[in-house]
Amino acid sequence: MSRRLLVTSALPYANGSIHFGHLVEYIQTDIWVRFQKMQGHEVHYVCADDTHGTAIMLRAEKEGITPEELIARVWQEHTRDFDGFLIGFDNYYSTHSDETRELSEDIYRGLRTRDLIDVRSVEQFYDPVKEMFLPDRFIKGECPKCGAPDQYGDSCEVCGATYAPTDLRNPYSVVSGAAPVRKSSDHYFFRLSHEDCRAFLHDWTQSNDHLQEEARNKIREWFEQGLNDWDISRDAPYFGFGIPDAPGKYFYVWLDAPIGYLGSFRNLTRRTGVDFDAFARPGGDTEMVHFIGKDILYFHALFWPAMLHFAGYRAPTRVFAHGFLTVNGEKMSKSRGTFITAGSFLDLGLNPEWLRYYYAAKLGPTMEDIDLNLDDFVARVNSDLVGKYVNIASRAAGFVTKRFDGALGTGPEADAVRNLRARSATIARHYDQREYAKALREIMLGADEVNQFVDQEKPWELARQPDSADRLHWVCSQTLEAFRLLSIFLKPVLPRVAARVEAFLAVPPLDWSHAQRALPAGHRIHPYEHLMARIDGKQVEALVAANRESLRATPDSHSTQRHAQHQENIVTENIAATGSPADATPPVPDEPAIAPIAPTITIDDFMKVDLRIARVVDAQHVEGAEKLIRLVLDIGAGTRQVFAGIKAHYDPETLKGRHVVMVANLQPRKMRFGESQGMVLAASADGAGVFLLDADDGVTPGMRVK
Ligand code: MSP
Ligand code: ZN
Repeated sequence: MSRRLLVTSALPYANGSIHFGHLVEYIQTDIWVRFQKMQGHEVHYVCADDTHGTAIMLRAEKEGITPEELIARVWQEHTRDFDGFLIGFDNYYSTHSDETRELSEDIYRGLRTRDLIDVRSVEQFYDPVKEMFLPDRFIKGECPKCGAPDQYGDSCEVCGATYAPTDLRNPYSVVSGAAPVRKSSDHYFFRLSHEDCRAFLHDWTQSNDHLQEEARNKIREWFEQGLNDWDISRDAPYFGFGIPDAPGKYFYVWLDAPIGYLGSFRNLTRRTGVDFDAFARPGGDTEMVHFIGKDILYFHALFWPAMLHFAGYRAPTRVFAHGFLTVNGEKMSKSRGTFITAGSFLDLGLNPEWLRYYYAAKLGPTMEDIDLNLDDFVARVNSDLVGKYVNIASRAAGFVTKRFDGALGTGPEADAVRNLRARSATIARHYDQREYAKALREIMLGADEVNQFVDQEKPWELARQPDSADRLHWVCSQTLEAFRLLSIFLKPVLPRVAARVEAFLAVPPLDWSHAQRALPAGHRIHPYEHLMARIDGKQVEALVAANRESLRATPDSHSTQRHAQHQENIVTENIAATGSPADATPPVPDEPAIAPIAPTITIDDFMKVDLRIARVVDAQHVEGAEKLIRLVLDIGAGTRQVFAGIKAHYDPETLKGRHVVMVANLQPRKMRFGESQGMVLAASADGAGVFLLDADDGVTPGMRVK
């Protein structure tokens, strides 16, 4: 049966770049959408920039431009990045649009008619200089627990304590520096605690697989804590939509953000004539499916379905939440260069399908975090995509072109091909259930079998035997048929390769149903051109270096905090109903951040590191290296060569003869310029320079440091 799907990914904030964390979501959604389209279903995939809120307003002001100018520029950047990663939106729009405004007003009026809007006075911090109310993230002060200065209004980065902004000692406004005062104003609330809402949400969240099991359990906990009314208004000055009949009041960004899904869709339907109401109103057989990160579940599983339902729109059919990205097992980090932007990857000319494949190989249907291990990334792409898949075509195509004039032969179906075709239904089921890792495992097992077939048949030997032409023709034709099947199965993940394969095999755009029947004998293919290059580890090193270099003095946890912040604010809103907004990214502070203390280790862990005093015997610039100085170190028991990334901070001449501390038992590392046999210790903080460690007078090379 044919399905009719409206599919969305969360709307990225319009004041930051698309990064590898975001891409988990857009790639996950895009694969699902492409798969469903290949099934012949009607699918509309829409998204937009999330443009409103205090952060965007202030950021534009700081840059000396209007918010409209800022969001137009970011829209261009985001669009370029998404195109670059082959994200096939049917519409990429903006929440700052007539469609979203009209729908927001309509939904708001619908809720008001149902008596679900309430007005109440709320007391909040106010910046008397800037004359504006301050979201939590725009207030700083001393941590009430440990006294650390310059901590945000919701949590302390030094000791980890969480608290309300009113608990801060000596609070000040991040915007003007002024001491905030408390001030009351009227706020508009969506009465989520109303019995009708409670009953509806209880039913919606717990039934019909609207949510994943884990999400359902999470929501049940929230229910037990009790649903509080939701503050949906903000006072001027604010960049957003004015609330009808409420001068000086604006919709809080999280009210119009999800409405932006429908705004984008409406804009699409106005251009294409698709029936908007068939997807947006209840009662039809269409489906509305949202892909989101686990950090914004509360908004999508409670506020959003309730808003829609009580305003006469349809609630979502499914909300699929995914986990967060870690890189090499840790949070993405600007100082480590693992906070990787989509733009940097594309600028370096790396292939987006490498990342699409790797993410797909890691993705499942749960909210578990996924890890991008950079070494594994290189190994996996090279062995699976290039070694197993692309290789198959190159092993057979040349013979068909040169020996048989590009025409496919006849003969029975080889076992490897029949088995591969038989995997089609299983692979399809895995894709549909977002079990991409399983789908790819199944595909690669099929590829292994095909490679074994080629290994056994040895076409390169058949080609040398005068009477084996028929056998050679059959083997190569079967191999190409297998390659065509693999290309169908991989097309949701590798759309660009698939397009090249379509040209090479001279076939119309591949659909899932095309796996049912083989290409006929006599079908002519075009000469093979290489489909995909291997990744070189150096390209990944360059990527990390590029993202480290683009570093500004930004706290490492900057973006991840923003995500924690969504939850944080929900907690505040629930407990205190202060209406502290989970606004978009706060402005970037200028001072270097103190990195959080790492998890505890034992003395035995520490003693594994053999630290030694070393004397710098020689120090030289390294030809062709932007950052490195080559050090020759005397460590008592001989000399070591170490490449240290300190060129920007030290003149080699001044290093000769001084003492440093080195890690003497670090595994040597081959670099482009030679082997690095250890590491010298230096202190650093983002943007604050690099400082080599020294030792007091009297030390001699080789002394152990502990
Ligand atoms: N603007 C809101 C969403 C509004 S939807 C009506 C927002 N924007 S965001 O730019 O912070 O994130 C966009 C999406 O990317 C979210 O679903 C978020 O969970 C996801 N990710 C952002 N960083 C991520 C990782 N590090 N890892 C995985 N997904 C992440 O939230
Ligand atoms: Zn503290």
